[in-house]
Amino acid sequence: MTSKNTSANAMWGGRFAAGPDALMEAINASIGFDQRLASQDIAGSRAHAAMLAATGIVTDKDAEAMREGLLTVLSEIETGKFAFSAALEDIHMNVEARLKEIIGEPAGRLHTGRSRNDQVATDFRLWVRDQCDQAIAGLQALQGALLDQAEAGADWVMPGFTHLQTAQPVTWGHHMMAYVEMFGRDAARFADARARMNESPLGAAALAGTSFPIDRHMTAEALGFDRPMANSLDAVSARDFALEFLSAAAICATHLSRFAEELVIWSSAQFRFVVMSDRFSTGSSIMPQKKNPDAAELIRAKVGRITGGMVALFTVMKGLPLAYSKDMQEDKEQVFDAADTLILSLAAMTGMVSDMTANRDSLAAAAGSGFSTATDLADWLVRALGLPFRDAHHVTGALVALAEQGGCDLADLTLDQMQSVHGAITEDVFAVLGVDNSVASRTSYGGTAPAQVRAQISRWREVLA
Ligand code: ARG
Repeated sequence: MTSKNTSANAMWGGRFAAGPDALMEAINASIGFDQRLASQDIAGSRAHAAMLAATGIVTDKDAEAMREGLLTVLSEIETGKFAFSAALEDIHMNVEARLKEIIGEPAGRLHTGRSRNDQVATDFRLWVRDQCDQAIAGLQALQGALLDQAEAGADWVMPGFTHLQTAQPVTWGHHMMAYVEMFGRDAARFADARARMNESPLGAAALAGTSFPIDRHMTAEALGFDRPMANSLDAVSARDFALEFLSAAAICATHLSRFAEELVIWSSAQFRFVVMSDRFSTGSSIMPQKKNPDAAELIRAKVGRITGGMVALFTVMKGLPLAYSKDMQEDKEQVFDAADTLILSLAAMTGMVSDMTANRDSLAAAAGSGFSTATDLADWLVRALGLPFRDAHHVTGALVALAEQGGCDLADLTLDQMQSVHGAITEDVFAVLGVDNSVASRTSYGGTAPAQVRAQISRWREVLA
């Protein structure tokens, strides 16, 4: 990057006698990061140039020169031949200055009826819109991997937890499908945000619109927007599309973090619910026995920078008067980093889920421990003996205490021991104490019974097909 701070800026230096201080350039230039908007910037300029010709604002000849010149600039950038200049501040002026070198005078007509304010708003919307699509694709791939896990273990029993204490048995498939639901809502949030952001700011110009007879509907359509934004002040000031993207990303990263935490716990020697593949684990340089779930730990942590980016941009935007303020240049790095981090986390989680092996035996052994069928026992007392639920709860509690004293599970108590707590208990009770019976009985809509789980798996397979 070059720094030419002895002469006034060629783009806006008409009223300036001297160039900026080096520190001014350092704090002002965004080219170090907004070069990521190059293809969006050139797409926006191409749409604008074609519109300028169609409306007779520039000649067809000039527009054709712009079109070809812009394509040359794009290929120079894509092939790494482009020399970005910090003196030219940002991607918009870097592209335009190079266009001038290539096509000469017509380049100076490209900025007619346009400002960098609507230009950057357009570029950034296009970029974030694309990231919504990528996030949705990443989420759907992850859902696919979860569905495969759920299908394989639709009826494998495992403990369900509340407070991370054994609560009631559930199925492996049910647990996987809980995340399919969560990630489905995450994808829907990105789709909602995308639909709302898909309006074109281009042609709002600096803030007030323009006196040139531009056609904003034409440029909106060329760029795949549904319509032009209806208020020029709003068009250049709005960054809620980026805030929505970051919010959706933060929620999604939060979900990923929760799942990652479960994988960390489940892959520990104490749980042994899952075995992570070597491809998604690392070793220890000192402890030879270690196989660490680093990818899961990192995904658990990545939410910090994504939520951090969200908070950062909310803080930048708070209290900003209309219309454009340079503060808004601080929007990009946060969104770039959050998007990169989210897409990588989704891909890594998808890889981990596809590769991991659930340990059916460990899951089943854990499912039966910790008095996980105590609720089934209480429900049986209500159904078979007609006890009020509160009394049944009390009787069951006494039976749990008895089993705990004896160091055994509920199913290991004898009928005599049971009857010592409540005389009317019969042999039939033992049928409800097995974990398979327990999960099979949870047939309410959305419950953990394998039939319910399988119904949700097929529904999601259709949704994702
Ligand atoms: N680099 C600027 C940004 O990212 C582009 C808009 C500059 N507009 C202006 N009036 N200085 O926000």
